[in-house]
Amino acid sequence: MRRMASIAPDPVAAPTSRSAIVRFATGTLLALAVAVVGGYFALRSVAIDEAKRQTRTRVKEDAKLVEAAVTNGLLKGHAHAMRAVDDVVVGRVLDKTIVRVKIWSPAGRVLYSDEQAEIGGHYALDAGQHRLLRHGGAEVEVTDLNRPENALDRQNGKLLEAYTRIRAPSGTPLLFEIYQPFTSVTADARGLLRPLAPPILGAIGLILLVQAPLFWSLMRRLQLSHEQREGLLANAVSSSRRERRRVASYLHDGPVQDLAGLAFSLAPVADGAETRGADREAAVVRNAIDRLRGTVRDLRALLVDLHPPTLAAAGLDAALRDLASPLAARGTKVELRVDGEDRLDADTQALVYRVAQEAVRNVIAYADASAVSVEVDVADSTARLLVVDDGRGFGPETRDQRRAEGHLGLSLVEELAEQAGGSLAVDSREGGGTRVRLVVPLR
Ligand SMILES: Nc1ncnc2c1ncn2[C@@H]1O[C@H](COP(=O)(O)OP(=O)(O)OP(=O)(O)O)[C@@H](O)[C@H]1O
Ligand SMILES: [Mg+2]
Repeated sequence: MRRMASIAPDPVAAPTSRSAIVRFATGTLLALAVAVVGGYFALRSVAIDEAKRQTRTRVKEDAKLVEAAVTNGLLKGHAHAMRAVDDVVVGRVLDKTIVRVKIWSPAGRVLYSDEQAEIGGHYALDAGQHRLLRHGGAEVEVTDLNRPENALDRQNGKLLEAYTRIRAPSGTPLLFEIYQPFTSVTADARGLLRPLAPPILGAIGLILLVQAPLFWSLMRRLQLSHEQREGLLANAVSSSRRERRRVASYLHDGPVQDLAGLAFSLAPVADGAETRGADREAAVVRNAIDRLRGTVRDLRALLVDLHPPTLAAAGLDAALRDLASPLAARGTKVELRVDGEDRLDADTQALVYRVAQEAVRNVIAYADASAVSVEVDVADSTARLLVVDDGRGFGPETRDQRRAEGHLGLSLVEELAEQAGGSLAVDSREGGGTRVRLVVPLR
């Protein structure tokens, strides 16, 4: 229905700015989220490495403090030696970030711990610790709380342990170990991240701010060019329509009138020749008159094809009259009746016209009818069109065969009628004329 009502092609849907903006915004936010989350974890691991580095420094500093208080008595478990170490540990080492301090003998015995119950315990040192005792340095690692030596450290949650080598005055190497709660490490990391956050978020905001007007102007330009294209197209369509109308009106006012007048004025010549007994002349002139009339008929049909919008300009009645004019011109009796035209909207009028056009064309082409009636009326909020001829008619197999050969005239208008919520019935039989009936609801 729409297809024929508007001669201009359906406008291509304009890219709606809202959907584009939504797509752009989600894309950007997604990319930002990936960047922020990825960046956070990358920075966090950097910050944790930095915290470990600080812990390594810390263990060395604390080791120096404690080493100064270590006497050879500690190796033998003397109480006063232990107390001297404990004074330093409790007074200067333990704080919020260091929750445990231990000193190990090379054989794996706990010589000192700020947790009394751990002192004297014996555990095998691992390869890393042996290496450290031999070569010095410092190590930091996450504490394995499942190891028996850490049984009493479990209440502190996840821990980071750092150890380094100290020496007793006798020269015996000892392992000095501190434990840090992991939360203080991540707090350190957060502390490192905090100053980085404002510039990063600021930069992201700035990118968005710079991008938004750019995107906006791009959208505007896209829309503008779309509108321009639409305008051009509409212009082209309407100018081609104008051109067709011009050609049609030239044909109608000029050649068609001239040829019709010529045929008319030749008729007496033929009659005169006949009375004079010049039969051959008369036949030639009559033949010329017939051909002139034929040409006028063809031109009129062409006019209807060129400029069907009589429909819009002059209304359905006039358009249908034009449509039937070739039939009348060839001597078929035409009866045309149009009622209630003003109750039909433009689309329905176009549908009625299109169906009548197909039916009348078929009558002209195949029916060889002596009478045709075309009726339009409106009743019970439906519009009805009836085209009846008394021509030769056709059986269903004829139509099927034509359809198979790609002749779809009636089938196409049937489809149009259904699209408009109506129906089309074609009744015909061999030798019994044809009846085409369209019923379509009013809108
Ligand atoms: N009024 C009629 N009188 C006699 N035969 C008709 C009439 N209308 C249609 N027919 C027959 O039905 C066939 C199918 O008609 P239809 O309009 O579907 O296709 P077409 O006219 O052959 O081709 P197209 O319309 O595609 O140019 C026609 O070929 C013709 O044989
Ligand atoms: Mg046809």
